Amino acid sequence: MIYTVAIDGPAAAGKGTISKAVAAHFGFAHLDTGLLYRAVGAKVLAGAEPLAAATSLDPTDLENDNLRTPEVAQAASQVAVISEVRAALVDFQRAFAKREGGAVLDGRDIGTVICPDAQAKLFVTASAECRADRRFKELAGKGLDVSAEAVLADVMARDKRDRERETAPLIAAADAKEIDTSDLSIDQAVAAAIAFVQSRIS
Ligand code: DC
Repeated sequence: MIYTVAIDGPAAAGKGTISKAVAAHFGFAHLDTGLLYRAVGAKVLAGAEPLAAATSLDPTDLENDNLRTPEVAQAASQVAVISEVRAALVDFQRAFAKREGGAVLDGRDIGTVICPDAQAKLFVTASAECRADRRFKELAGKGLDVSAEAVLADVMARDKRDRERETAPLIAAADAKEIDTSDLSIDQAVAAAIAFVQSRIS
């Protein structure tokens, strides 16, 4: 049976944590689609042309240690505006979604564009301040030299660009269940997501 779970939402809302936990619970494979855009962004920062970077993307590009930096996040959000770049990444994501044994994909346009027929769609949100605070702690914990103000500005700039772009903007699918994680613990958010997915696939 092919099960697809689509998890979308703005930066640092908890999509990654929830997606990994849902995938582990159901034994599904997980694809963080933001990593594809980050890998393209990193290649562009290294001098590549955006479309050439997207069409030549190689699995080893996803292993680059720099992909989680704020600079690469901004570059990812910038290349993600280019419709040809997005188009170049569609087939890979759809093939992943259809793999035997089930798949969880997280990103910005999974429930709306990449997998409109996904059995379960979640839209994970949290207030901008809450998301920035979490991202700041995550980056500072990794030893990156960042300020809380700069992280909030980065998150807000990316959200604005991701929401306002013409192609595949960040928006909840009409049939997505929204989970606001602002006042939830990780365990509570994960439990809500698993309960919803279970209700959709059983
Ligand atoms: O999920 P993330 O923060 O790693 O994503 C980085 C950027 O990539 C994000 O700001 C917008 C873009 N992106 C996208 O446009 N569509 C996706 N499905 C995933 C990410």
